[in-house]
Amino acid sequence: TFKAVILVGGPSRATRFRPLSLDVPKPLFPVAGAPVISHHLRALTKVDGLKEVLIIGFFEDNVFSRFVDDAASEFPDLNIRYLREYQELGTAGGLYHFRDEILRGNPQQFFVIHVDIASAFPLNEMVEAHMKHRGLCTMLGTKVPREQATKYGCLVAKPSTNEVLHYVEKPDSFISDLISCGIFLFDTAVFGEMKKAIDRKKDSTEENDYLWTPSDDKLRLEQDLLRPLSEQRKLYVHVTEKFWRQIKTAGSSIPANAAYLELIKKESPQKLAQTKQGGPEIIGPVYIHPSAHVDPTAKIGPNVSIGPRVTVGKGVRIRDSIILDNVQIGTASCVLHSVIGWNSKIGTWARVEGSPASDHNIDMMKNGVKSQSITILGKEVLVADEVIVRNCIVLPHKELKSSFHSEILM
Ligand code: GTP
Repeated sequence: TFKAVILVGGPSRATRFRPLSLDVPKPLFPVAGAPVISHHLRALTKVDGLKEVLIIGFFEDNVFSRFVDDAASEFPDLNIRYLREYQELGTAGGLYHFRDEILRGNPQQFFVIHVDIASAFPLNEMVEAHMKHRGLCTMLGTKVPREQATKYGCLVAKPSTNEVLHYVEKPDSFISDLISCGIFLFDTAVFGEMKKAIDRKKDSTEENDYLWTPSDDKLRLEQDLLRPLSEQRKLYVHVTEKFWRQIKTAGSSIPANAAYLELIKKESPQKLAQTKQGGPEIIGPVYIHPSAHVDPTAKIGPNVSIGPRVTVGKGVRIRDSIILDNVQIGTASCVLHSVIGWNSKIGTWARVEGSPASDHNIDMMKNGVKSQSITILGKEVLVADEVIVRNCIVLPHKELKSSFHSEILM
């Protein structure tokens, strides 16, 4: 049998997800009509013999209580619980701290999944790969463009066996275009290795007391555990070509939204909007919440998610965007490559647009300066009639009465 842990981090972490994380923690931010973490749970329901999911983080308990209740009814076959770290313990510290919870019921293996990713989650393929070797861990790997690779945990593997020979977190220079996806399958025997890693840390801090840094009391999955595992040849990789993206910045929710909509189109197309007589024109995969009202003369898609109680006026055009709860978009306005925050109001004949984001790079270089490609409106932003907002990040509660271009509006 299996268990799963989803690492969700805590309130101090999602700084790059601002301004959207000011109003909702990143794990609960909706992409393709469901919170980021729901897509993980949906994938976990497809693993035979997996009945329990532990969400581990250092958010207050009440942050997840409603979500956990909702998820219990959406995924009745999973027992889902939130476990709170008393302080930030690091990506392996929480696993070790809650080891009794993980081991209860004697599972043989457990998945560990980072929350800040979007993926096709080929979990059953990982199980199959794991059974074929004698390692303690199978990690999911994927190839990214060479110039992007050093932003991730990079690994060098032996092609004939998939043994991981080297693992380096965010190397200074290129070592490999094969990177870690943040999805791991561990044998429970790994807790012995964690204990050793903790002892090694303790020893080295006692020797070098004056070198103490705040990260020393945290146990990091990558540096403290996976590296020693690879040195002992107990770490293996399963390489996938299926979709995988990071959800780090607010703008990265747009490519994640597109990829999940595409997946839902294949798996359960009935959840998506269709062009119907007397309804709006729908192009490609589009999710519209049942309580939203979209004018029949609007044209929506591809890759659009429209949240609860949104109203979309006559002749509106939306593509590659996430429209959050209770947004109003006035007649003949246009929203492209953007996230529109809760309760925002866009007037008539206005344009809110970003630029298409490439797969793994959602920041654009413009004249040598990094600029935002996706436009983000925070909560309760007002965009006046006929105003154009292009490649901007707009903080909550702003009122835009004139046009802006490539700015962060505070
Ligand atoms: P950077 O954020 O760029 O450093 O990259 P990364 O992908 O290596 O992220 P990191 O290792 O910080 O986080 C990976 C996942 O673990 C994310 O889903 C975080 O929310 C989560 N996480 C990070 N630190 C902690 C922690 O101390 N406790 C828990 N429970 N989760 C954590």
